[in-house]
Order: sequence, then C-alpha cells, then structure tokens
Amino acid sequence: MFLLIWTTVFLSGISADTGASVWGQQHCPQQGYCVTLSEGELTAEAGLCVVIPCSVTTIFTPRHVIWSKCKTAEETLWDSNRIFHTNKSQSVQSEFRGRVSLLEPDVSQRNCSIMINDLRESDSGFYQLRVEGSKQSEAFTFASKAAVTVKGLSQKPTVVIPPLTAGQQTTLTCTAPGLCSGSAPKFTWSWRGKTTAYKSEETQRHTSALTFNPLPKHHSTSVTCTVSFRGDITTEETQTVNVSYVKEVQITGSRNVTEGETLSLTCSVESFPPSLITWAKMSESDLQEDTDTFTQDQRTGALSIYNVTAEDSGQYVCTATHLNKTHKMRNVTVTVICEYTTLCF
Ligand SMILES: *[C@@H]1O[C@H](CO)[C@@H](O)[C@H](O)[C@H]1NC(C)=O
Ligand SMILES: *[C@@H]1O[C@H](CO)[C@@H](O)[C@H](O)[C@H]1NC(C)=O
Ligand SMILES: *[C@@H]1O[C@H](CO)[C@@H](O)[C@H](O)[C@H]1NC(C)=O
Ligand SMILES: *[C@@H]1O[C@H](CO)[C@@H](O)[C@H](O)[C@H]1NC(C)=O
Ligand SMILES: *[C@@H]1O[C@H](CO)[C@@H](O)[C@H](O)[C@H]1NC(C)=O
Ligand SMILES: *[C@@H]1O[C@H](CO)[C@@H](O)[C@H](O)[C@H]1NC(C)=O
Ligand SMILES: *[C@@H]1O[C@H](CO)[C@@H](O)[C@H](O)[C@H]1NC(C)=O
Repeated sequence: MFLLIWTTVFLSGISADTGASVWGQQHCPQQGYCVTLSEGELTAEAGLCVVIPCSVTTIFTPRHVIWSKCKTAEETLWDSNRIFHTNKSQSVQSEFRGRVSLLEPDVSQRNCSIMINDLRESDSGFYQLRVEGSKQSEAFTFASKAAVTVKGLSQKPTVVIPPLTAGQQTTLTCTAPGLCSGSAPKFTWSWRGKTTAYKSEETQRHTSALTFNPLPKHHSTSVTCTVSFRGDITTEETQTVNVSYVKEVQITGSRNVTEGETLSLTCSVESFPPSLITWAKMSESDLQEDTDTFTQDQRTGALSIYNVTAEDSGQYVCTATHLNKTHKMRNVTVTVICEYTTLCF
C-alpha cells in the first residue's frame, strides 16, 4: 500500500516536470471511435470565455459536430440540452445561441474544440459530444464529458499609466481581462468616482485609451477603469496618478531687517516630485554661488543670516530646480536697517 502511494506521487512528479503536454486522455468506447477531452475540471470566470479542447476519431468522415450540456455527469438528453450544432438550421438552447463556436471550422479535421463566450455561472456543467456523418446511420455519441465550472469574475483590468507631466497630452490605457471573441466589453473611466468628460476610445476590442492633458490638480487623484461584460458582469481597477509639475516660486519673510538681528527668508515652490531650492546673493557684477556666507536648507528653502550687517543688503535669488532640468527663479531685495552703528551708509 505504501509502495503504491509512493509510486503515484513519484509519477505525478514526473509528469509535472516534463511540462505535462498531454491535455487529456483518449477514450475509445468502441473500435474506431475515440475522443480526447480535458481530464479534470476546466474553470473559467463569468463574463470571460472557456475553450473545451477536444479531438475525435470516427470511422466515418465527420460532417456535423453537436455539443450538449448536462447538469450531472450521468445525464444524457439529446435534443433539449443541445447547445451547439454545426448545422445552423438545427435548434440549440436559446441561452447558448451565438455564444458557442468551433475553433477549427473544418469539421473533417477532427478537431471538435469549442469556445463558449460571455460565460455565466449557470454555464457550469458537463459538456458532451456527438458526431454525425453524411449518412443517417453515421452518428456517434460519446459518453465522456468535459466538466466546466464558471466562477464569479475576479480578474481585473490592466491600467497602464505612463509618466505624466503637467501640460503634456498623454494616453492612459485599460485592457480588459480575457481575450474572448464574444461581445466586446464596455469601458468607463472615472476620476474619484465621477465619470470623466475626457475622450476615450476603444483602440482594440479589449483596450480603451483615455487621452487628456494632465494638470497639477490631477496629481495624487485616483482614476478608475470599469469594464462591463454582457450580463451585468463588471470588474474595475483603480490607480493613483502622479503628475510631475512645478508652480511659481514664492518667497516669504521680512525683507527689512535691523542690523545685528537675523534675516530669515523662506523660498517655496509647489511641485511634484519636490524641487531642490538654492539661494544665492547677487553682487554688482554677477551671481555669487558662494553659499558659505549663509545657511540654507535645500528642502525647506529656509535662508538664515545671523547678526546681519550692512554688507548683507542686496538682492537674493532663490532657484527651484525641478527634476534636474527646470529652473524657476525669484529674487528679493533685502535692506539692512541701521540703528546701532553709523557704518551702515
Ligand atoms: C441542416 O438541417 C436541416 C434541417 O434538419 C436539413 O434540412 C439540412 O439538410 C441540414 N444541412 C446539412 C448541411 O446537413
Ligand atoms: C483545434 O484547432 C485550434 C485552432 O486551430 C487549435 O488551436 C487547437 O490546438 C486544435 N486542437 C486540437 C486538439 O487539435
Ligand atoms: C506616485 O508617487 C509616489 C511617491 O513618489 C510613489 O510611491 C508611487 O508609486 C507613484 N505612483 C505611480 C503610479 O507611479
Ligand atoms: C522695507 O523698507 C523700505 C524702505 O527702506 C520700504 O519702502 C518697504 O516698504 C519696507 N518693506 C517692508 C516689508 O517693511
Ligand atoms: C555681530 O557683528 C558685529 C560686527 O561684525 C560684532 O561686533 C558682534 O560681536 C556680532 N554679534 C554677534 C552676536 O555675533
Ligand atoms: C542630476 O544631474 C546630475 C548631473 O548631470 C546627476 O549626477 C544627477 O544624478 C541627476 N539627478 C537626478 C535626480 O536626475
Ligand atoms: C528680480 O525680479 C524682478 C521681478 O520680480 C525682475 O524684474 C528682475 O529682473 C529680477 N532681477 C534679476 C537680477 O533677476
């Protein structure tokens, strides 16, 4: 008994290692009649599609392929539960009409694989095959069935957001899960829960593109793409967008400072990502980048000069460097007011 279990584990290990290219086992209920269906259960999600792989061998040349759906593995009822017939004049269950197709339209290829689109959870069941030839006597119903389970839709759309820069038109894309040939899904884009007025279009059957001009106000807001499949089946994906932008430089603090006191100025700029802020003092001739004479903080933009003297009067320039390439400047004139000495003037 132990040996038997061990052998089973060992063999299944081998088939996993070799990649298990075999998708099913052939069943030959009668000489000359064989069918290969997937072993085990096929699982799929509502709104998407499923392929039931199938290949068949018959003594006669197949002319028609017929599929039926049974609720249990034992049930066999032919005409009432038919879901597909290659002869379009033959009736099929109304709920399957137009949703089932053969992967290989040439029936004589003995490839009986079908795809069922716009899946519903009620499509779960056992699918059974019948093959008919050109003569009345040429027909065979296979007892083997392919088990299909359809679960609620859990896959989400894929939203792709390129790096966004304020003022530069851009396109976001949303791709629906599944690649089925059934009804094309519907796309809805929204910002913070409100349907957007920006233009979107389906660039492909399963992809929607939203084109817009990003603004600073879009930074750190959320965009949602909702995909609706036939039968009120929806799925959505939300992402937070980052927009790189830089606004105008602002300087705060008193420009007039009494000799001996501290000059405190703050330079700030609203931007994403944060900018680096540097202060420099203008001399008569040119801009001094000599920052030894005062302390500054590149993140907060604070400039402090303790114990100011008349020499500290003049023009100070604040430069905000954004993303290493955009430089925004603003200058301020500082006046040191003399109270204690006459050296000021
Ligand atoms: C399809 O079915 C109709 C109705 O039974 C029949 O008259 C017709 O001959 C069939 N066509 C083929 C190609 O088998
Ligand atoms: C059936 O045909 C489809 C489409 O050509 C193909 O992808 C699939 O592999 C075929 N299946 C078999 C069992 O030959
Ligand atoms: C947005 O920026 C934040 C902070 O820099 C970062 O953590 C996040 O991953 C960014 N989001 C996207 C979608 O790029
Ligand atoms: C600074 O002083 C100048 C004259 O010295 C005056 O015109 C200006 O209004 C003062 N500015 C502030 C903010 O006090
Ligand atoms: C301020 O500067 C003056 C002139 O350079 C100096 O005499 C004084 O000691 C300084 N005061 C402080 C508190 O550093
Ligand atoms: C900015 O540019 C300098 C020199 O070109 C480079 O060394 C540095 O890595 C850059 N920084 C960023 C954040 O791109
Ligand atoms: C300083 O700023 C003013 C306006 O804010 C501008 O007119 C002037 O040209 C600037 N000076 C320098 C040297 O950048």
